[in-house]
Amino acid sequence: MVSYSLIIFCIITLLINPILCYEPKPRVGHNSVIINNQLLVFGGWDWDSESIEPSYYDIFDLDLSKSLYSKNWTWNSVDGGKLPVYTSFSTAILSTDDTIYLIGGYRAINLTKGEFNYSNPVYMYNSSTESWTALKVDNAISRQEIKGVINEGTIYIFGGNNATNFSAGTLYNDMQIFNVSTMDWSTLSITQNLPSPSCGYTADILTNGIIVYLGGVEIANGSYTSRIATFPSLKTIKLFDTVRLEWSRMNATGDDVISSRVYHSTVLKDGNIILFGGYGTDSPKLAILDTNKEIFEWKIPASSDSSPFLYGHTANLYGNYMIVTFGKQNLL
Ligand SMILES: *[C@@H]1O[C@H](CO)[C@@H](O)[C@H](O)[C@H]1NC(C)=O
Ligand SMILES: *[C@@H]1O[C@H](CO)[C@@H](O)[C@H](O)[C@H]1NC(C)=O
Ligand SMILES: *[C@@H]1O[C@H](CO)[C@@H](O)[C@H](O)[C@H]1NC(C)=O
Ligand SMILES: *[C@@H]1O[C@H](CO)[C@@H](O)[C@H](O)[C@H]1NC(C)=O
Ligand SMILES: *[C@@H]1O[C@H](CO)[C@@H](O)[C@H](O)[C@H]1NC(C)=O
Ligand SMILES: *[C@@H]1O[C@H](CO)[C@@H](O)[C@H](O)[C@H]1NC(C)=O
Ligand SMILES: *[C@@H]1O[C@H](CO)[C@@H](O)[C@H](O)[C@H]1NC(C)=O
Ligand SMILES: *[C@@H]1O[C@H](CO)[C@@H](O)[C@H](O)[C@H]1NC(C)=O
Ligand SMILES: *[C@@H]1O[C@H](CO)[C@@H](O)[C@H](O)[C@H]1NC(C)=O
Repeated sequence: MVSYSLIIFCIITLLINPILCYEPKPRVGHNSVIINNQLLVFGGWDWDSESIEPSYYDIFDLDLSKSLYSKNWTWNSVDGGKLPVYTSFSTAILSTDDTIYLIGGYRAINLTKGEFNYSNPVYMYNSSTESWTALKVDNAISRQEIKGVINEGTIYIFGGNNATNFSAGTLYNDMQIFNVSTMDWSTLSITQNLPSPSCGYTADILTNGIIVYLGGVEIANGSYTSRIATFPSLKTIKLFDTVRLEWSRMNATGDDVISSRVYHSTVLKDGNIILFGGYGTDSPKLAILDTNKEIFEWKIPASSDSSPFLYGHTANLYGNYMIVTFGKQNLL
């Protein structure tokens, strides 16, 4: 049983000593992954700026084993690990051999000119050599605003946007699978219980192999010609069973209203999915979905309001801590 008071928020956006260490630019839609005790952050873009600065090719880390309790947070630049591509709203998945798979996202060459290059959807980061490799993956599909999860060497990616630009595209509801050992990429052919085309959701995989999808935006016919889309209810939960390859829905219980949202984050701890932040609402800031119950149950911990409210951030679980990095303050 988790004690909710143990969940402490560390908003790491400031540097204590900018001279001695690396000072990253603010960002949304970046990636963060914990390998051993290192929190690695890379990608993303500056929501308030049209330009892409070379700094967004950066990769930097924080030594959590040293920093967490000392409160002396210092980012270090991983100089050799510079991203081979500018990406935001992509997904980064860690496999058991400490390899990161960076998939999809907006891939700009020059934002001012509106130039993008989507020709290579999958990159791999080897954490021991601190280097990226462009993987040649036949049939790999490029999508934006996606979240992948991994189960026994297979990455599952649901839907996402096939963008024409930052304000238009086509949303999908298909399930892509990528076997990292064989490098086989395929699209599952599922016709039953398909959810609506969606992007900007979160995905967490439970120990029984069921993926829980929360929030995001949906559009009935997929055509995403503006940011006008519907926000699915967080009470009706989309589930994908990676063993039976089947979709289902569940209506969660809980009396509290958990408002719909996009660009939020989740972490999974002991069967509790901790949902934080997001765009489209300001309430509650944080909620917990207990998936240990046969019918999942939403709860809002008493301390929910003590945090800032962000969107486009990332969250990672480290021991009893949820570490939130960057994002933009939601001023609703
Ligand atoms: C904080 O960490 C940096 C880099 O590891 C180190 O140089 C500095 O002395 C530390 N400062 C304090 C107050 O511990
Ligand atoms: C992007 O294009 C603009 C306009 O042509 C140019 O001024 C700028 O230097 C380019 N940026 C990069 C990173 O190439
Ligand atoms: C796009 O990326 C591919 C793969 O990295 C590269 O071979 C190609 O030259 C790039 N195209 C442009 C126009 O930059
Ligand atoms: C990562 O690099 C190390 C050192 O070169 C190598 O032994 C290992 O096989 C690489 N991992 C992958 C997944 O390629
Ligand atoms: C959209 O999908 C097509 C076909 O799969 C692909 O060639 C293209 O790169 C995709 N565009 C983006 C922005 O992902
Ligand atoms: C984005 O693409 C849509 C559809 O092609 C187009 O109508 C719109 O003008 C484009 N917006 C920008 C900012 O380029
Ligand atoms: C992925 O490939 C490996 C090696 O061929 C195989 O053992 C495994 O069953 C594959 N996973 C799936 C989900 O097909
Ligand atoms: C898709 O839905 C949008 C918004 O409801 C509508 O404007 C558009 O015409 C629809 N497109 C198709 C192909 O049905
Ligand atoms: C969830 O609730 C809605 C509205 O009450 C109902 O229409 C739907 O059938 C329920 N779904 C499930 C899976 O129980």
